[in-house]
Amino acid sequence: MVMWTDGPLCYGGDYNPEQWPAQVWSEDVALMRQAGVNLVTVGVFAWSRLEPAPGRYTFDWLDQVLDLLHGGGVRVALATPTASPPPWFSLAHPGALPVTADGIRLHHGSRDTYCAATPAYRDAALRITTALADRYAHHPALAGWHVHNEYGTTCHCEHTARAFRRWLTTRHGDLAALNDAWVTSFWSQHYSDWAQISTPRATQYLPNPGHLLDFRRFWSDTLLAAYTEQRDLLRAANPALTITTNYVLGDWVPVDHARWATEVDLVAVDHYPSAVDGGAEEQTALAADLARGWARHAAHRRPGSPPAGGAAAWLLMESAPNQIHTAGRMHTKEPGRMLRHSLAHVARGSHGAMFFQWRAPVGGAERFHSALVPHAGPDSRVFRETVALGAALRQLSEVRGSVEAAVALVVDAASGWALRHPGLPSALPDYHDELAAAHRALWRSGYACDTLTPGDPVDGYRLLVLPALYLIDDDAAEWLRGYVDGGGHLLVTYLSGVADEHARVRLGGYPGALRELLGAYAEEFHPLDAADQVRLDDGGTGRIWAETLRLTGADTVVSYTGGVLDAMPAVTRHRVGAGTAWYVSTRLDDTSYRRLLDTAARAAGVTTVCPDAPEGVEAVRRRDGAASWLFLLNHTDHEQRVPASGVDLLTATPIERAVTLAPGGVAVLREHKG
Ligand code: GLA
Repeated sequence: MVMWTDGPLCYGGDYNPEQWPAQVWSEDVALMRQAGVNLVTVGVFAWSRLEPAPGRYTFDWLDQVLDLLHGGGVRVALATPTASPPPWFSLAHPGALPVTADGIRLHHGSRDTYCAATPAYRDAALRITTALADRYAHHPALAGWHVHNEYGTTCHCEHTARAFRRWLTTRHGDLAALNDAWVTSFWSQHYSDWAQISTPRATQYLPNPGHLLDFRRFWSDTLLAAYTEQRDLLRAANPALTITTNYVLGDWVPVDHARWATEVDLVAVDHYPSAVDGGAEEQTALAADLARGWARHAAHRRPGSPPAGGAAAWLLMESAPNQIHTAGRMHTKEPGRMLRHSLAHVARGSHGAMFFQWRAPVGGAERFHSALVPHAGPDSRVFRETVALGAALRQLSEVRGSVEAAVALVVDAASGWALRHPGLPSALPDYHDELAAAHRALWRSGYACDTLTPGDPVDGYRLLVLPALYLIDDDAAEWLRGYVDGGGHLLVTYLSGVADEHARVRLGGYPGALRELLGAYAEEFHPLDAADQVRLDDGGTGRIWAETLRLTGADTVVSYTGGVLDAMPAVTRHRVGAGTAWYVSTRLDDTSYRRLLDTAARAAGVTTVCPDAPEGVEAVRRRDGAASWLFLLNHTDHEQRVPASGVDLLTATPIERAVTLAPGGVAVLREHKG
């Protein structure tokens, strides 16, 4: 297979020629050439233009577009348009329209109006996929397939309920096991027949946690099956093409991205920070570190050699060239941010930078979402930055390898799902927020950070951080024990290890799965009000959560001070085997969190990427054998000097002692070997 990662860094984005008259296509290709665009996703929502009536295909326009792109040297990731079935489909198959948990059947009028468990939808999706594969699998423009778009919808229809029951029989074997796993002895929920089980629809009061969790797992598997059946068909048509789908990130997403990573040829993620200021950089870094973690997780499980460009290569499949539409308004990116954010992704292993979208449309729901060619046209600041980014990516063509990190966050989708249950001791803890807080603390101090899935190889990591890893099964507990016994350093935060894989609470004191390892356990939780905080004896504060901890071998590092927890341990450290296990029983304020992680990292012998980088300058190193490249990103609005040496690839300038970064500026140094 020819992987995209074997070629130049990918540059381009979603291209929707079906929204434009044919005369615009030639201009598009000319502008793509000017910008250095080399890969576009074509036709991602073009189903009704490709199949205007059942079984009647209109491929002429796509033939022309692909030929034009090929002539212009632009490769194509041809999309299967299955994320937006046409109106005729919904009319013919009303039973394939999705049903919400409240039992409301949604109607056509937006996109994603299908149920992925419904045979009529799956059949229609396979038919259009087959037609595309038959016609284009060997088209010279094709670099690969972009299956669907952002799998992430859910459904509660009868087809789904039937599929859920089938899935449950495979998972649990018999009803006794299911009743045990879901603790149905509570509230008279015992099931005596599979037919009694439905999807977790809206109900009177709190739903069953095991039921909810299994539904999430089932739905991730269902969407994955919808993906893999398209993939298998496309693979059979031409085994040489890269096949992937673009992940949508968010804690609402019912997809276990780590598990999916083993089924895509290249992990591809869409990333839109929630705003352009106030944390966009740290959100970018976390998203990219997660993507690399999923890619590495898959590489460990896949037989054969890792892809060129490193075992952890992935691709930023969508990002915004300019405005980001969140929190009720568009947030405009200031000049330079598109380049800086794109390079933040490339620094962390993305094999390029792709955007939504190529050209801003005149109408449609997302007419004001940003584009590389904005409404103003190519004579615009954004298009000039588009051209500049294309040039920058070409200058970085030699960059290879991956980030080398000695610290890793342990991440698990199911823990995030379980923590969304409304019956937890507090509604305040938010899994993504817990991950982000730990990652932010490491990022601000300048540590390179990987992300791991429980069970992944831990060789080379000196410090593992477990933010709110709520579900820990026996294997994961053993994996952590082995890591610490072998000399690893582990930092665990509250709400980790409280429950087993079925979301059943482990008895004997929290966190049941890690009690012995931590040499401490919590007898009681003390969740806090949103406005409250607890004081700590090192001057720091905690919020959201606190605990009554009892020590069974650990030392107190920081204590609560004042209130009912006065003088009780808040942060503990346990030396066990050849390693150390830390426990943090509250959500530390950012400064304290950073200080604690710094202490733990230093104790573990971990150093930052670029110890002399000033605050606000992000430093990321990619390494391939003896060669290394240092990315320096100045996120401040003033000039910064960073001690470093090498050759700045963006300006082809040798750097002897220090590089000067303009406000918001970037440099990528090929470092001297040795
Ligand atoms: C997602 C989708 C795109 C588009 C963008 C808008 O990432 O995949 O189709 O809707 O968001 O920001």
